[in-house]
Amino acid sequence: MSTKPTDVGAVDSPAPSSKQAALTDAEVQKIRSEFPCLQLHRHGKRLVYLDNAATTQKPRAVIEALSRYYEGQNANVHRGVHYLSALATELYESARKRIKEFLGAHLVCEIIFTRGATEGINLVAQTFGRQHVGPGDEILVSEMEHHSNIVPWQMLCEEKGANLRVIPINDRGELLMDQYEAMLTDRTRLVSIVHVSNALGTINPVRQIIQIAHGRGIPVLVDGAQSAPHMAINVAELGCDFFVCSGHKMMGPTGIGVLYGRAELLESMPPWHGGGDMILSVTFEKTIYNGIPQKFEAGTPHIEGVIGLGEAINYLQNLGMPRIQAYEAQLLDHGTRVLEAIDGLKIIGTAREKAGVLSFIMDHAHPHDIGQLLDEEGIAIRAGHHCAQPVMQRFQIPATARASLAFYNTREELDLLGEAILKVKKVFG
Ligand code: ALA
Repeated sequence: MSTKPTDVGAVDSPAPSSKQAALTDAEVQKIRSEFPCLQLHRHGKRLVYLDNAATTQKPRAVIEALSRYYEGQNANVHRGVHYLSALATELYESARKRIKEFLGAHLVCEIIFTRGATEGINLVAQTFGRQHVGPGDEILVSEMEHHSNIVPWQMLCEEKGANLRVIPINDRGELLMDQYEAMLTDRTRLVSIVHVSNALGTINPVRQIIQIAHGRGIPVLVDGAQSAPHMAINVAELGCDFFVCSGHKMMGPTGIGVLYGRAELLESMPPWHGGGDMILSVTFEKTIYNGIPQKFEAGTPHIEGVIGLGEAINYLQNLGMPRIQAYEAQLLDHGTRVLEAIDGLKIIGTAREKAGVLSFIMDHAHPHDIGQLLDEEGIAIRAGHHCAQPVMQRFQIPATARASLAFYNTREELDLLGEAILKVKKVFG
């Protein structure tokens, strides 16, 4: 593995608050009973679901909210004068208010519904990006980005003749902050940075990153797909200009996500998709666009997705994000100890500030083989490049096996993971 000359990795993110009581084991057992998929068995064994960075399981409250919507609340929103349409609109807009509170935004109109974090980033690239980025300009991302925070910017740079610049990371998987600062120039138009790496688990010091960029008048987008499900977020306090997250990674339905944008920026951006609901009036000569958030929500939205996401947020808030974070930190410590005790196994991603991601490689066993053998033991993990190929290139590996945690996981499950990995070791020697 390469060793970079400078190794002043970033560590200043607030650590999980030790003052917050973690969820207790008894609470976690109750929580587990509320997730139907966690009751499944595989090869006669209770499913151990450790693929939460890919998608989380859904509590019954969310599943029931979806059925309730289709059984007694289904109508289009913002359009009808009838009872059902008013009801669906009320449910849809109250979910927006709930999400505004959850993310700590100042205004409800700063919450835009998207298909997911990926679409949120594409929206910003295609609106704010096309508006502000020109030939020779620069956009800054990091070496640990998910493809969704690389490709939309590459597409924009290609179109505009701009340059994508990449902040390097050290061997622990931490951002090199001195290099970040040095890379900001008067051509930098945006810093777009992942909050928590899906492949390494690194928690980036986004507060510091934002302060440094803002000191030079550069806006910052934070990709919160892997942070919003695991820690309390307050976008107003962080001061980020944009923040994106995905519903399905936070106990909600698939196909729904959120883009938070500062109102002032959203108002100044052109719309992206055209269609119904994003207009105030249309003639063949001229269309007057709606205000935010509707300006960015063309067409019939994912109504049940929004309602389900609102229910998921409610579920998370009832547990309390600080308590979730404190419990997951305990789980991560335990899981790290279990994996570190296995000879021939190497954890990839050892940042000092880390969320519940355990990426690893083993001597003689390809990650896909590890994943398959673990599946036979009833353990679900992900194996591959995790849609973060540049991170794999940085560590000079093709792939990792990855166990990713959620608050419904237990220490016993991580012990089972350890035992199953020992079996894999026996097979591959
Ligand atoms: N981005 C998701 C993952 O990390 C799909 O698995």
